[in-house]
Amino acid sequence: MRIIVTAGPTREFMDPVRFISNRSSGKMGYALAGAAAARGHKVLLVSGPCALSAPRKTDIERVVTAEQMLEAVREALPKFDALVMAAAVCDWRPKHKAPQKIKKTAAPRMLELKPAPDILKTVAPLKHGKFFVGFAAETEDIERNARRKLREKRLDLIVANDVSRADSGFDSDTNLATLLDADGGRNRLPLMSKDKLALRIVRWLEKKASGRGAGI
Ligand code: CTP
Repeated sequence: MRIIVTAGPTREFMDPVRFISNRSSGKMGYALAGAAAARGHKVLLVSGPCALSAPRKTDIERVVTAEQMLEAVREALPKFDALVMAAAVCDWRPKHKAPQKIKKTAAPRMLELKPAPDILKTVAPLKHGKFFVGFAAETEDIERNARRKLREKRLDLIVANDVSRADSGFDSDTNLATLLDADGGRNRLPLMSKDKLALRIVRWLEKKASGRGAGI
């Protein structure tokens, strides 16, 4: 298969040196890219800023903002069979970006924000039989919120993560995840390494693409 994986955080700048972002380390997305490449798939890793190096046999495109990640995904999508959005896209961006560094004496009392693009929703019309996998980073009502995202973003599979725990989600080496698919299937997984979870997701994609009815 040909698989696009997005990873890491995105950043949105308020001036040339300051930005808003989130705690994503990129580990889950890089684990997915590595697992898919190791199983012989062609992988494009679209990565936000993070300290990890590209896994072997993957093509990497580095981006910074949500807009740049959207453009990279939108351009590559026609040549790929699947999109796995593991990136923690920053949902808002400053309404105005100052062209010069904002001086301490001119500190804004309020930071006005506007929405950044929702990448999955924007590319949903380009789906055309491709497989879309998303992640849901949740701290409450995990499954209900994840099911809503599965539906609204037209996903085939969503990996619902409890990010309120230290051993799951942002920057940990393990994840406590529940897999939910578009056919109503549900699999509550035990705590496992991101590498192991990545392999499960890649194997699910392989089964789904081969038409062998992918149980989860
Ligand atoms: N996502 C996206 N574009 C965004 C935000 C998120 O494509 N601007 C993708 C993520 O990569 C993930 C899925 O949508 O696969 C769900 O992301 P999540 O942060 O859990 O949800 P949001 O849609 O941002 O909703 P909320 O922050 O309100 O929970």
